Amino acid sequence: MNTIPKHVAIIMDGNGRWGKLHGRSRSEGHYAGSKTMEELIDVSVGIGIEVLTLYAFSTENWKRPKEEVNYLMSLPVKFFNQKLPEFMKRNIKILISGDIENLPKGTRNVLVKAIEETSDNTGLIVNFAMNYSGRSEMVQAAAHIIQDVKENKISIDQLDEKTLENYLYTRTLPDPDIVIRTGGEKRISNFLMWQSSMSELCFVDELFPDFKKPLFIKALKGVYHRKQALNI
Ligand code: IPE
Ligand code: IPE
Ligand code: MG
Repeated sequence: MNTIPKHVAIIMDGNGRWGKLHGRSRSEGHYAGSKTMEELIDVSVGIGIEVLTLYAFSTENWKRPKEEVNYLMSLPVKFFNQKLPEFMKRNIKILISGDIENLPKGTRNVLVKAIEETSDNTGLIVNFAMNYSGRSEMVQAAAHIIQDVKENKISIDQLDEKTLENYLYTRTLPDPDIVIRTGGEKRISNFLMWQSSMSELCFVDELFPDFKKPLFIKALKGVYHRKQALNI
């Protein structure tokens, strides 16, 4: 039996504290976090995870200082301009969960380009939760369902869990087997509220930039040792 989780989701928390701890700015912490993200993508390809969801920006994060928000919006541009050719070579497919329409134009364009260019790839799916809110996702799903009922596309008696899932950003993805949060806080912070109903939750104290390969593997093994040996 295959013990490798199909879908791993990560709340990448602790970048700001990491910056402070190292006498650097919060933005430098976010940059360090983006390097760790690259490593975790690489590890995920290596061990055969099918979907890696990374919580990159929540709708609540708009409340942060303008300078930090601007930096967080510029990071995907830098990231994809640099990494997209490699993602193509490695057959990685990029998806976004979240409200992409209301992102600054430059950020939106680079995300749309990454989704389009990688759309035929069949390897690891990296799903970025960007401008994401689990609650808004459900509100939007409710609104769409009501619309489709009005237009006779579905009937109320047809509405079940599977149907509702078709209205979520994650409609094409399996539910996460495991949700990891770095940075020591034991909170979900509006992340994949519906999808993580049955997931294993794993809270680790290390700050995200320090959450490199050995800690990632340790976290996966820690969750799975209760079930069966994880052979990686
Ligand atoms: C990263 O960590 C999360 C993002 C919004 C990108 P934080 O920026 O929340 O870092 P801490 O929790 O303040 O240390
Ligand atoms: C969760 O971290 C959001 C992301 C990782 C993008 P936050 O630091 O924004 O969450 P809170 O403020 O601790 O709930
Ligand atoms: Mg935080």
